[in-house]
Amino acid sequence: MRWPVPGSLRLRFLLAVSLWVLLGIGAIWFSAVRIFSHHVEQSYHEELEVHVRELGGLTEIAPDGRIVLSRPLSDPRYAEPLSGFYWQVTAEGRAPLRSASMTRGRLDESIAHSPEILHRLNSGPTGPAITYGYTRKGPAGEDIHFVISTDQSELDRLINSFTRDLTAWLAALAALLLATGFAIISFGLRPLDRLARAFARLRHGETEELEGRYPAEIAPLAADLNAYIRQNEAMIARARVQAGNLAHCLRTPLAIITDEAERLAQHDDSRAAGAVLLDQAGAMEQQIEYQLARARSGAGRKPSGRGVVLPDVVLPILRAMERLHPGKRFTLVSGSDQRAVLPLDPVDYTEVLSILLDNAGKWARSEVTISIDQPHAGGCTVAIADDGPGIPEAQIPQAFAVGTRFDPEVAGSGLGLAIARDLCDAMGAELTLANGAGGLVARLHYPSTSGE
Ligand SMILES: Nc1ncnc2c1ncn2[C@@H]1O[C@H](COP(=O)(O)OP(=O)(O)OP(=O)(O)O)[C@@H](O)[C@H]1O
Ligand SMILES: [Mg+2]
Repeated sequence: MRWPVPGSLRLRFLLAVSLWVLLGIGAIWFSAVRIFSHHVEQSYHEELEVHVRELGGLTEIAPDGRIVLSRPLSDPRYAEPLSGFYWQVTAEGRAPLRSASMTRGRLDESIAHSPEILHRLNSGPTGPAITYGYTRKGPAGEDIHFVISTDQSELDRLINSFTRDLTAWLAALAALLLATGFAIISFGLRPLDRLARAFARLRHGETEELEGRYPAEIAPLAADLNAYIRQNEAMIARARVQAGNLAHCLRTPLAIITDEAERLAQHDDSRAAGAVLLDQAGAMEQQIEYQLARARSGAGRKPSGRGVVLPDVVLPILRAMERLHPGKRFTLVSGSDQRAVLPLDPVDYTEVLSILLDNAGKWARSEVTISIDQPHAGGCTVAIADDGPGIPEAQIPQAFAVGTRFDPEVAGSGLGLAIARDLCDAMGAELTLANGAGGLVARLHYPSTSGE
């Protein structure tokens, strides 16, 4: 089970279920204790009434005038000393008769003042007690008072023991309900987890659309999203092809314009105009080459399923660079044996690495080093260092502009770094240049990776 994080649906459901269970169980506990107490008290009182009636029925006046019982009361607790169950029979002019349990004290007979059975709470020999009593006329017309008393603590003990048992049971029931509630929430939210995983796979380029079957509530969302992705892909591909086509169409007219401008530049009276035209045509050609290169780099291509696997992707480029720049040594230094998988398009990534390695190969004296700073949570950096002249610090920002070339001696169109920066922006990677100990160091940093 995944733990709920603040602001999540899971946490909302968990709080709602917990509140619901606690309220429900609390209400059951309260009502059960109330109903049970009421019934126990009622049956207790009925029992005491029966006992006082039994006492009256068993009481006799002996020939010698003593008060006696024809037999002991049926409840043995009245015979046990200080058991909490007491009785007493009194009559004016006669010695009182008390239960064997009452080894000390006496009962207040004022409750027994009418033939009707009355009861009240007063203090007995062993604490607060429920007392029942009534009177009956004796043989000489005197009042005989019958009193039965039971400690209130007996009743409390019954209710407390019930409440304790009930609390334990209901607590166990609440725990069970909460656990099943949490399980139900997890089960109910599983399709959303699947959707999130499918989305992550899509973002990492492992799939081309949201995969999986979803419940009726989410299925339309997934279908709409897939339709949107397809539409977007088609639109981007179309736009790239159109940009490529446009750039291509402009090439021939531009070649004719350049040709004309060269002829104009050869005549004395139109030399200046010819030079301006040639200059502008050159700038236009650069832009066209740049747009064509950009359009080529991603036109209509589907992202590959594997992502970029480092350092595997580097090795074939190094072989190619060694052939392209004979006499220069290309060395790969890896920070660890671990492989990194970057969720990026391998073709775009390879193109950026090729541009940077080609530059390093062009300007290095003898040595190019490519090092992979291996992935932790912080991402993955590939650094390409050469032992060439580097670029003056102040000119580094300019190097990324279309057509910038600082070194006219070396062949090139000045587009490489501009394209590399564009591709990096689109991939969410960061490209920086700096002068290192030997020459230029180009760093390609991708913020988050997954290790393999
Ligand atoms: N490793 C490097 N060492 C020294 N200067 C460099 C290095 N990389 C690039 N530069 C400078 O930055 C300029 C721009 O580089 P960029 O790759 O954009 O163009 P290019 O290499 O001249 O042409 P292209 O790559 O389009 O064939 C280069 O002309 C060069 O002056
Ligand atoms: Mg270059």
